[in-house]
Amino acid sequence: MVIKVTSLKTDNYDSDHRRLTTIQPKERTMRIPIIAGNWKLNNTVSESVSLTTALKPLVAGCTGVEIIVAPPFTALTSVSSAIADSNIQLAAQDVYSEDNGAFTGEVSAPMLKDVGCDYVIIGHSERRQYFGETNESVNQKVKAALAHGLKPIICVGEQLEERETGRTEAIIESHVTGGIAGLSATDLLSCVIAYEPVWAIGTGKTATPDQAQEVHNFIRGLLTSAYSAEVASQIRIQYGGSVKPENASELMAQPDVDGALVGGASLEAESFAEIVKFE
Ligand code: 13P
Repeated sequence: MVIKVTSLKTDNYDSDHRRLTTIQPKERTMRIPIIAGNWKLNNTVSESVSLTTALKPLVAGCTGVEIIVAPPFTALTSVSSAIADSNIQLAAQDVYSEDNGAFTGEVSAPMLKDVGCDYVIIGHSERRQYFGETNESVNQKVKAALAHGLKPIICVGEQLEERETGRTEAIIESHVTGGIAGLSATDLLSCVIAYEPVWAIGTGKTATPDQAQEVHNFIRGLLTSAYSAEVASQIRIQYGGSVKPENASELMAQPDVDGALVGGASLEAESFAEIVKFE
C-alpha cells in the first residue's frame, strides 16, 4: 500500500543560498528519509567508537528518519556494540559475492550479518574506479547481500566527462539495470539506490537540487518501466556528493530525493547530525 502525505514544508533556500523562496507543498509517497555516513578509509577502531559515541546523543531524539553509519570493516564489531541501544544502524562499505572459500582478503554477507550490519554499500564509484567493480559484480554482490538479509545501498553515478558528453542517462540506466538485474519486486523493495555523480564526490561541487531531482526522477522512471509505478514509488533514492549541513535541506526538499549518502561531512558528529536533522 502506498500512503500519500502532503509535505507541509513550504520555505526553502534557493540553490545559491541568497534568498528564501517559496516552494509549493508537494505530494510525495511515504518514503522514510535515509541518511547514511560513508566513512570510507577513515577511522581506527577507537576513533570509530569515539565518533559513534559523540553522534549518539546528537541524534537520539531524531524520529522518522533512518540513520546509518558505515565504518571500515575493522571497526564494524566495535561500532555495532556502541550503537546497540541507539537509533543508529550499521552498514558495511562493500561485500563479496561468495559466502566463504578461497578468496583472500574478502568479507562475505554472512560475516557482515554476524557483526550486526543492517545495510551494505555496493558499487560505490571509488570501487568502480579503483577496484574494478562492474555492473555484473555489483549485481552478484546485491544478490548475495539480499540472500543473507542485508539491505543493499546500490551506488550509481556518471563521471564528469560522461555528463559533459550527454551520456548521463545512458550511464545511469546501465548502472541501475545492471545492478538490479534479476531481482524480484520484493527483493528490490529491500534496496536503496544512491545517486552519486562522480564529479560531486569530495570536490565540494554539489549537484544542484534540480540536477539531483532530474536524475532521481529518471531513476524512478527506470524502476517504473522495469517493475511498476507502485514499486518505483516505494524505493528510496539517496543523493551523494558533497552533502553538507548547508545544502541538505534543499536537496531533501526535492520530490524524488529521499536521503543522503554523506562522505566527508559524516566524519564529524556535529555536521552529520545536522544533516540528519535536515528539516
Ligand atoms: P563526499 O560527501 O565527501 O563528497 O562523499 C560522497 C560519497 O562518496 C559518499 O559515499
